[in-house]
Amino acid sequence: MTEKKEKRILLASPHMSGYEMSYIQEAFDTNWIAPLGPNVTGFEKEICAYAGTNYAEALSSGTAAIHLALMYLGVGKGDTVFCPSLTFSASANPIIYLGATPVFIDSERESWNMSPAALAKAFEKYPHPKAIVVVNLYGQSADFDQLKAIADEHQVPIVEDAAESLGATYKGVKTGTIGEIGIYSFNGNKIITTSGGGMLVAREKKIIEKVEFWATQAKEHAPYYQHKEIGYNYRMSNVVAGIGRGQLRVLDERIAKKKYIFDYYVDAFQDLEELEMMPIAGYGEPNYWLSCATIRPGIEVRPKALLDYLASKNIEGRPIWKPMHLQPVFKGVDFFSHNPEGTSVAEDIFARGLCLPSDTKMTDEDLERVVTRVSWFFGAEAARR
Ligand SMILES: Cc1ncc(COP(=O)(O)O)c(C=O)c1O
Repeated sequence: MTEKKEKRILLASPHMSGYEMSYIQEAFDTNWIAPLGPNVTGFEKEICAYAGTNYAEALSSGTAAIHLALMYLGVGKGDTVFCPSLTFSASANPIIYLGATPVFIDSERESWNMSPAALAKAFEKYPHPKAIVVVNLYGQSADFDQLKAIADEHQVPIVEDAAESLGATYKGVKTGTIGEIGIYSFNGNKIITTSGGGMLVAREKKIIEKVEFWATQAKEHAPYYQHKEIGYNYRMSNVVAGIGRGQLRVLDERIAKKKYIFDYYVDAFQDLEELEMMPIAGYGEPNYWLSCATIRPGIEVRPKALLDYLASKNIEGRPIWKPMHLQPVFKGVDFFSHNPEGTSVAEDIFARGLCLPSDTKMTDEDLERVVTRVSWFFGAEAARR
């Protein structure tokens, strides 16, 4: 008898609030079908109020936001920019767009984010990077007090890549507002989505003015089309911003559900000796975007085997980001680690880690299905050993 295929459990799918359509309808009713309009301005103001910062610029993607942030900081040909190795490639690609060279920094164990000790080592060889991209991975803040102390000592600005951490805090302060410039992503799998989109946030108005200029094709104030600089078409559409406004209204609800999912796994797997949930550093509250775990050292099972097994049971997981210093496209790029145990922390997390389903539409029954399948998998593996 063939096994009945169970409902598909997704990693993290868009979760509409029901408020989105009224903002979109308003855009249609008023014919604001453009890369500007009341939803764009409203979304920017609402993000500022939520995150506790002064200015925001809604853009077509988080990647575009990183690109313009680095451009504002003067990154150009021949410059060096520090970036964590354990991240999505979009954190590093804009460094290349600008003709600069990334230098990758290893993770610390406590949060999987940029290691202050490895950062300090990188400064010994490269004392004058133009900027540092700090990522808050999987919804958890990096250790900014330590990283900023090093950055400030060398007078290097931080671009805070908070693509994955909207709503998370570091010592009570919302992530995205800690670096000189912060960025968020509203891509389809993020904690809130606009289908695709991003936001750049800053405390200083002059940053936003310049970013807006570049994001709208660098048109000069003139009675005709006058351009002295190369610009980009990077603004968010007013229709898309309407989705964002509807989503932002339930962001705190989504964070609460993400935390519930993470806590559920922590509780369920506490006696499972093969698996360990990702560490939560004590200095802040993550938004728990994705619940990640590692297979404990010494267990001869690769995450791929577990992910394949879950996929065969219609459960979607995902590998941990493959570190940038291992990517063919970044071959030869310098990498700094500070791991007394030897191999890099990022490589170790990649080798042993995986993302478990973290979809906010999951029911307790779905969660129990994931937990049962994971436990069965290790049970069967143990029996084989
Ligand atoms: C850490 C990180 N940085 C940057 C991005 C880029 O954002 P976007 O997809 O909106 O361009 C993403 C996600 O896609 C991300 O996870």
